[in-house]
Amino acid sequence: MTSTSGPTDAQAPLPTPAQSPLPAADEAVVGPLDRGLSVLRAMSAPSEHRLRPSDLVRATGLARATVDRVVSTLVHLGYLRQAGRDVELTPRLLELGNAYLSACGIPDTLGPIADRLAAEFDESLSLAVPDGDGVRFVTRVSRRRTMSLAFRIGDLLPAERCAPGALFAKEWTEQQWSAWRARLRADPCDASFSAVPTRTSATVAETAEADFGDRVTQAAARGWSADNQLVEPGLIAVAVPVADPSGRTVCAVSVVSHISRHTVESLAAAVLPRLRDEAAAMERALAEAVTQPGGRAAPDSAPPDNLTAKQELGAGFLQSLARGLAVLASLNAAGGRTLSEVAYATDLPRATARRALLSLEQLGYVEVDGRRFRPLPRVLELGYAHLSGLSLTQIVQPHLERLVGEVHESASMTVLDGDDIRYVARIPTYRIMSVDITVGTRFPAYATSMGRVLLAGLDETERLDRLSRADLRPLTSRTVTDPAALAQILRDTATDGYALVNEELDEGLRSLAVPVRDAAGTVVAAVNVSTHTGRGSIADTLATLLPALRRAAARIEADLRAVSARTPLRMP
Ligand code: PHB
Repeated sequence: MTSTSGPTDAQAPLPTPAQSPLPAADEAVVGPLDRGLSVLRAMSAPSEHRLRPSDLVRATGLARATVDRVVSTLVHLGYLRQAGRDVELTPRLLELGNAYLSACGIPDTLGPIADRLAAEFDESLSLAVPDGDGVRFVTRVSRRRTMSLAFRIGDLLPAERCAPGALFAKEWTEQQWSAWRARLRADPCDASFSAVPTRTSATVAETAEADFGDRVTQAAARGWSADNQLVEPGLIAVAVPVADPSGRTVCAVSVVSHISRHTVESLAAAVLPRLRDEAAAMERALAEAVTQPGGRAAPDSAPPDNLTAKQELGAGFLQSLARGLAVLASLNAAGGRTLSEVAYATDLPRATARRALLSLEQLGYVEVDGRRFRPLPRVLELGYAHLSGLSLTQIVQPHLERLVGEVHESASMTVLDGDDIRYVARIPTYRIMSVDITVGTRFPAYATSMGRVLLAGLDETERLDRLSRADLRPLTSRTVTDPAALAQILRDTATDGYALVNEELDEGLRSLAVPVRDAAGTVVAAVNVSTHTGRGSIADTLATLLPALRRAAARIEADLRAVSARTPLRMP
């Protein structure tokens, strides 16, 4: 059985010109992989990131038993998690999109130039790649808030509704033009493009058809293209193409502004000379990067899951799906990987790895170029835009829920804010504090376990500096307020990797906290569990709560690494 492929089918990439040197994919592998990908696509639809299995049956057209097997496999792989009766996408899924971004090399190679240009122009800037008859963002540098909606990495725009589209369409085949016309007719209001406001009238699409043809011709003649409020009123953009050494347009760089600052003409006059120079610099950088394929590994290149779950989950585990996704995740080297490299990276026999690669190619997620297999931009449709935009609070909440389920005590996360800790997430069980704590609540850092963990994450000079400035006053009879004693406590906290505070903030309250570190090892937040002193000794608290708290912190850190691999984390 093959699934219906959901609303994005219209943007399915056309066959690549490169001919596969290998025999056709095997239906026994394509089927389960296709069903798994269709569940992930359904989960990626806007506002659908949490679904019941019955909703998935409706969205994918798959049988309930099939959905259950796909879901249990994806849960086992860590791409989905159970949330009560719902399932939801997890940040781990970002590793698939990150494999594409690493393999295509555009963010790594061109990102620094994009950053520099955005600062120079003091305008937002983006890099986008062609994806079927759409345009997909792979890098964004936001300088000013130019629009009411904010695009994210992975978002897909219709080619005719943005500046880069006219540059890409110049290279379309007749077949691609007819696919585009068919899509425009089938979806005149752009309902299948969740990143853009829908058109209010289908007749606009009719004028769009003629207008786009003109803009493509004009862009080809001038070597740049414009967006005069095609996405939303007020928003304008100017884009130039960036070609690979073979002359193919691989991406476009857009400068985005607003009619309150520029007209399209004045924006073009202001940025085009420099933009063209820098696009040429981007082309040189890309040409240099392709001479060293495989050089850069993805920042989140975690070893693939061991695939022995077949024994554990029996028929509920779809091994072909698990292997296919492991193969996709393994393509995370600049320029992609050869079959031998994939087999080595995934620990799969060559024949198995080859079947998975060919299935992924057939399903439009991978292309083969000579001996190298590369993920296609379409991989980003698997939840990337949603997951990469998650805030710290959103990332942490499910992990705190799980922790509270394990230890049956309240759990929280805070960040350092001046001399205070500020709550960014909290799952209360019952009230043991004399004040209510909600997101946004602040307490003085020196008197709390989370504050001590956060202060301990700073270097010694900064710690002492803060202690000397802070207003250290007793909040209970037990509060430590002596700067020298606090300095020693912070040193111990840094060594132990946790802090326990007993009745220094509130009578009867005991709190245990551990740090949460980002990919660079910097302490960015603290998580705690709080309990009542009547529940047992300090030794009991440590023995029962510390292991669970550390496991929760490790799970949070893994998610933070995935989310912040390509975009700075959104701190609340
Ligand atoms: C953007 O990067 O937000 C952008 C780029 C090109 C457009 C519109 C928006 O045409």
